[in-house]
Order: sequence, then C-alpha cells, then structure tokens
Amino acid sequence: MSPTVQAGAQRLDRIPPYLFAEIDRKVQEKKRAGIDVISLGIGDPDLPTPKRVVEVLQEAASDPANHRYPSYFGLAELREAIARWYGERSGVSLDPASEILPTLGSKDGISHVPLALVDPGDVVLAPDPGYTVYVTGAVMAGADPYAMPLRIENGWLPDLDAIPDEVASRSRLMWLNYPNNPTAAVADREFLERAVAFCREHGIVLCHDAPYSEIAFDGYRPLSLFEIPGAKEVGLEFHSLSKTYNMTGWRIGWVCGRADLIGLIGRLKTNIDSGIFQAVQWAAIEALNGGEEETRAACDTYARRHRLVADTLNELGWSIKPPRATFYVWAPVPEGYDSIGFAGHVLDEVGVNITPGVGFGTYGEGYFRLSVTAPDDRLHEAMTRMRKLKL
Ligand SMILES: Cc1ncc(COP(=O)(O)O)c(C=O)c1O
Repeated sequence: MSPTVQAGAQRLDRIPPYLFAEIDRKVQEKKRAGIDVISLGIGDPDLPTPKRVVEVLQEAASDPANHRYPSYFGLAELREAIARWYGERSGVSLDPASEILPTLGSKDGISHVPLALVDPGDVVLAPDPGYTVYVTGAVMAGADPYAMPLRIENGWLPDLDAIPDEVASRSRLMWLNYPNNPTAAVADREFLERAVAFCREHGIVLCHDAPYSEIAFDGYRPLSLFEIPGAKEVGLEFHSLSKTYNMTGWRIGWVCGRADLIGLIGRLKTNIDSGIFQAVQWAAIEALNGGEEETRAACDTYARRHRLVADTLNELGWSIKPPRATFYVWAPVPEGYDSIGFAGHVLDEVGVNITPGVGFGTYGEGYFRLSVTAPDDRLHEAMTRMRKLKL
C-alpha cells in the first residue's frame, strides 16, 4: 500500500474561509460572464499613492544598498520618522529603538502577535463584528477567541462589564479597533479609559488596531490609545500606511508600545520574515515626513462620497448619517433578507458588490458594509444602479 499524503493541518479547519477571497471568487465568476461588476466590497483606496512617495521608491529601488536583506527591525530612520509622527500627531513619546517595530502591513503584526504573546488555551477577546484576522490569528496560536459583541445600542463599543470574570481571568489579549471596521464607529476617551483600566485589572494586553486613525472628517481627530494615561503599561497600537497614504499594495505598517512586548514580537518575526524591502522603507519615511495635506484631501473626497451614498440610500428608505471616520458605510439590510442574501441580491440584480455583515462575525448579521473607495464615476454609477434595485 502506498503511503497517503495528509491533506492539511487540522488548525486550518478551525479557520473559516477568508471572506474577501470567497467574495472575490464570486465577483470573478460574474466578470468572466461579461458582467460589469462595481466593487464596493473592499477597503482599498482607489486614489494613488502620493507622487513624492513613488519617486523616492523609484530612486531607492535603483540603489544596490537597498537590494540586500534589510534589518529585521526596520531602518533606524524609519523608526525615528514613526516616533516623530506620533509625537507631532498625538503628543505621544515613543522610543524608536525599543518601542516601535515596522511590519509588513498591519496584518502582519495583527496575525502574528498571538503567536508571540499567547499560549494554547488562553483566551483572546475580539470584537464581533470585526476584522477577521483577530480571530484567525488567535486560532492559529491555539488560543480560544471570545467574541465581544458590538451592538448599535452601545454605539458599537463592546460592553466590558458583560465579559464573565472566568473569561477575563483566562484572557491574555484584547483587540479594539477605532475608528472601526466594519461599523465606522469611533471611540471616545471615556471608553478607552475604561478599556485600559479593565486590561490593567485583569493583566490583559490591550491591542489597539488603528489603521483608520487618519481617515476622519469634519475636524474629528481619533485618539491614539497612548493618549490615555497608563495605556503604555498594557498596550500595543497597530498602524498602517495602507489607508493613510493609499499604500495598501506596498505592505508597510508598524506596531508600537511596551518595549518588552515589542521585543517578543520582534523575536518571533525574525523567525518568520526577513524584514521589509528597504526601498519601501525609504518611501514610507518620505510619506510620514510629508505632512497631512494629501491625507486631508483624500478625506475630503471620502466625505463627499459618503454624502452621496447616504443621500442615495436615504432616498431608498434607509436612515443613514455619514460617519465621522473610515471609508465604510455600515447599514441594516432591508426586511426579509439576511446579509448574505442581500449582498447576493445586489450583486445579481445590479452588479454591485457589497459585503455581508455576517462575514465579520455572527453579530454582523442583519447589516452590510460598503466602501467608498471606488472612483467617483463608478460610485455614481453604483448609486444610479442601486436606485433601480427592487427591494
Ligand atoms: C481593521 C483593519 N486592521 C488591519 C487591516 C490591515 O491593513 P494592512 O495590512 O494593509 O496594514 C485592515 C485592512 O483592511 C483593517 O480593516
């Protein structure tokens, strides 16, 4: 008898299929069938990376000094630029040598942090609905994810008092994400203070995922976790250049916070990847040093698009206020549909791709998410098509 090859690791069976990959497959099928699908499904800016950043990459890519293995811990100049950015933006002081670790996009940091900080059987607290990687990262580390429901009546903030003591005592890590994907909610200082106090009381590492911190409107400025006194003793914050500078394809972000935790994540990552292409790091330095003007202009565009979507959906019977931050619209599905059914209906009837809320977790059921990161003419066309949708 010939030996059989094992089909795959059991841990993969615990991970649901990555929602966006699944949706992409369906969209590609439609496209192959000749249908002009407008994708509002993924939060991927349509606006280009600032030209000055691309130019630095072009020059740095030609320099042989950048062709070799980069440092595992990022260029000192990049860590210094991040520290400066934090100081100017939030008045927060970070030590570039020990409190900042550049990552291959924030997803790299988010997916790997449980492997560095959590043991099998520990609990990882994750918002539901939420960015799915909080749960899959925990599962890959053998931990037990515990859902913290986000509900409209709580302003899409988790109810920390509802976490049973038995769960809190087994928890090693809590994920928060404000401005929030998918709900577009924001967190006030009072909530962040309570979260810091909760994590300090129970000895939990508070991981604040903040890739949308700069995508905010009408003068609103989201708080950094480290503006909360005591946060650095329990906290890590994850940032990304993806959304701030339209750099999703470049794969660069960072995690920062308590030095010993950063050291552990760095130690893990030396065994997983070999750092970030140095030319990309020089371009990131240029991005961070260049001020806010381009990001504010992009936000003006998103704010204008948010108004268009809210006006259109409100004409159709929704009651939506444009959000204070993020490029997402989070809205209830019409009566008679579940979220997958409604997303399928919209795709089949008018060729517009939106994301079913349940893809972000059980508590996302009943909602859908739409991203305003499509070019203006495509978003207009999508809204014209939505007006023709039979509900
Ligand atoms: C909440 C949240 N965190 C993290 C990420 C990952 O971003 P990146 O890996 O591009 O930095 C995303 C991407 O959509 C996100 O929505």
